[in-house]
Amino acid sequence: MILSGRKFAKTVRRNLAEEISKTGGRPPGLAVVIVGDNPASQIYVSMKKKACEKAGLISRIVHLDEAVSENRLLREIESLNQDSSIDGILCQLPLPEHISDETVASSILPSKDVDGFHPVNVGKLWRGEEGLFPCTPVGIIALLKHSEIRIDGVNAVIVGRSNIVGKPMAALLLREHATVTIAHSHTPDLPGLCRQADILITALGKPHFINSEYVKPGSTLIDVGITRTSEGLRGDVDFEQVKDICGAITPVPGGVGPLTIAFLISNTMKAWNRNR
Ligand code: GUN
Repeated sequence: MILSGRKFAKTVRRNLAEEISKTGGRPPGLAVVIVGDNPASQIYVSMKKKACEKAGLISRIVHLDEAVSENRLLREIESLNQDSSIDGILCQLPLPEHISDETVASSILPSKDVDGFHPVNVGKLWRGEEGLFPCTPVGIIALLKHSEIRIDGVNAVIVGRSNIVGKPMAALLLREHATVTIAHSHTPDLPGLCRQADILITALGKPHFINSEYVKPGSTLIDVGITRTSEGLRGDVDFEQVKDICGAITPVPGGVGPLTIAFLISNTMKAWNRNR
């Protein structure tokens, strides 16, 4: 089974757009802060803006110069924190070397933190409380449920321990009662560990690293890694090699990628519903 994140994301965005159009009053507002001219970041930000507008959200892009001071960026975020027309704020990563990701994440009001990177939201996630949680892992859980893939009681292995994907993914799978292992570059016998996974989630950024040696027959493979190569976009998983071994798999492109924006809109609406 091919798990089409693209198709599912479209349905999610259509449902969210319908909810916005039915609700009167002020539309949800998202502010996206981008620092510098990283080409990949610029593409992501313009995709976010387009998708927001199509769904009926107001989006505001705040573009700051690469050389902007951390203080100036924090003042910009503070003014968005105070702005009652803005429900969600995200600061596109990576940030320049002289600006601390952690300081920026902690400066966004937790109630507007649609990336779910603020320590308050991270704490709520691990404690099993309500909050705003990172868009990609939230989207992956929704895709698994939509595809009727069992999470409760299964073995889930995540390869990658980032704050954006690996760690929040583990917390969300744990909340759904999976037995969760986080593997990384220091993990011994990675293929053997991955072969025990009923659900294998990879966020490595190493094109076609995951081959048939890593895959349990009938398992579900969620490929979060996307690398631009000279032959086009490549996932972490060697799709051709594993497609007849696994039970379900997300393709690259068209798998996990489109979920992130759909669930960014969903998080912004969650914030809007609470903040109104
Ligand atoms: N850069 C790559 N992924 C992300 C993300 O999920 N959020 C933000 N803010 N920046 C990113």
